[in-house]
Amino acid sequence: MSLHIGDTAPNFTIATQLGEIDFHQWSGDSWVFFFSHPADFTPVCTTEMGRTAQLSGEFDARNVKPLGLSTDTVEEHLKWIEDVNETQNTSLTFPIVADKDLEIARLYDMIHPDESDTAAVRSVFIIDPDKKIRLMMTYPMSVGRNFTEILRVIDALQLSDAKRIATPADWAPGKKVIIPPSIPNAEARDLFPQGWDEVRPYLRLTEV
Ligand code: BEZ
Repeated sequence: MSLHIGDTAPNFTIATQLGEIDFHQWSGDSWVFFFSHPADFTPVCTTEMGRTAQLSGEFDARNVKPLGLSTDTVEEHLKWIEDVNETQNTSLTFPIVADKDLEIARLYDMIHPDESDTAAVRSVFIIDPDKKIRLMMTYPMSVGRNFTEILRVIDALQLSDAKRIATPADWAPGKKVIIPPSIPNAEARDLFPQGWDEVRPYLRLTEV
């Protein structure tokens, strides 16, 4: 199945190490950081799971629930999480989908056959409280993800929803944002009474 930004994230019911979840019910009114990884008891994945657990306060502050996935069993997840906690000095409390039959990995196109027929690549889906897919990223098995970037894109999406802005290259919280060309100057004057720098008529920068 091919998923796109703007699609409703497909629902599923599946076992995790914290019990069975119905994805849409579990996510409720939260955003979701849904991420797959190739396998339990592997080094890059261990650091990624540890980093996600370490950042639980940052995810909570943004109303984001992390949800991991690998094509391993609940029993393997439970044993591996002991290693993650010990080696990464953390306490992992978010659910990890046990997708032994590749059901959800296939539904979300996480199996890339040139990489592996049975292990998921490193996919990221950021899903909003309306269950819409807002961002997709895919990393190869050999490259661990950048969690500063994951938090940054969540901040950018949430700010763009709240303030009707777009964010420039390398934007970080506190930096200037862009007034989208779809907002004419007359409307922008109401939305952004602080004014803006007009670099070009289509490139207007403001502070929010
Ligand atoms: C890892 O997580 O370290 C890993 C998993 C599969 C392939 C390569 C690396």
